[in-house]
Amino acid sequence: MNEQSRKELKPDHDDLHDYEDVAENYDRYVLVIPGGDDASVVDFHLDLARQYGSSGVLDIACGTGITLIPLIQNGFDVTGIDVSAAMLAVLRQKIAELLPIIRKRASIVCADMKDFQLSKQVSLAVIPRSGFLHLLTLDEQEQCLRNIYQHLLPGGVFSFNTFDPSYTLVANNLKGTNPKPQLRVEYINIRNNKERIWNVAEFDPETQVMAGSWIFEEFDEKGEIIDRRTRPVRMRWSFEPEIRHLLRLCGFEILAQYSSYQKAPRTRGNIIWVVQKN
Ligand SMILES: C[S@@+](CC[C@H](N)C(=O)[O-])C[C@H]1O[C@@H](n2cnc3c(N)ncnc32)[C@H](O)[C@@H]1O
Repeated sequence: MNEQSRKELKPDHDDLHDYEDVAENYDRYVLVIPGGDDASVVDFHLDLARQYGSSGVLDIACGTGITLIPLIQNGFDVTGIDVSAAMLAVLRQKIAELLPIIRKRASIVCADMKDFQLSKQVSLAVIPRSGFLHLLTLDEQEQCLRNIYQHLLPGGVFSFNTFDPSYTLVANNLKGTNPKPQLRVEYINIRNNKERIWNVAEFDPETQVMAGSWIFEEFDEKGEIIDRRTRPVRMRWSFEPEIRHLLRLCGFEILAQYSSYQKAPRTRGNIIWVVQKN
């Protein structure tokens, strides 16, 4: 990626939730991207479901169903919610290929996690793999937590993750400093072409929002770039006391905190929260 392309780094889309141009490849790259942690993401949520999911599970920001599919295959009734029609189209296709007895355990709703409305309550809600970071203000986070609370049975459990980055990371990528894109992964896309994914993000310490782009470069067999797509990424990092406060405000009690889906003890950085409706 040359200097010129760095300067021109502007997303093709303005819609944060437009996964249209990445949905078909999402499973291919998310499974190989460093830190994608796939097996442990699924195992973590299966364990939670075995403990708390007997009266139904909400998989919120479920995307293409990397967690939802194993949950229904293991006998849980799951409602998958996501705001992206394109991601849900991939999920619906996967569900259609399953046996009817498994298929019927899933229902899919295209809606925003802040204000979806279902006519039932469940015993477990999860937001696997950083979906909660898409909420860009404290108000949005509070709205989402209150909505999830409404959809949980008494004593229902909810798990999600937040991310408190190091000050060094923020300082090195401060808003306005035009940081360099980093190569995240090289993989083979759905057209059987090599694709490289770069990402670049600037950090705004005032809003705690990291805003940037993912850049997808597709190559032909001669190594020439034949397609280049960028899509915006905006995510909010949260400090632990903010989330503790929000959870208390919204009626949740903290059951556990981990640093990883392998249940490593909490340190600074990623926090996986397991909380319970009071
Ligand atoms: C990184 S993907 C994670 C998908 C899936 N949970 C997984 O583990 O592979 C984030 C997902 O969050 C969804 N999303 C973002 N904002 C959302 C919102 N406000 N309400 C519902 N879904 C949202 C996106 O459409 C996308 O599918």
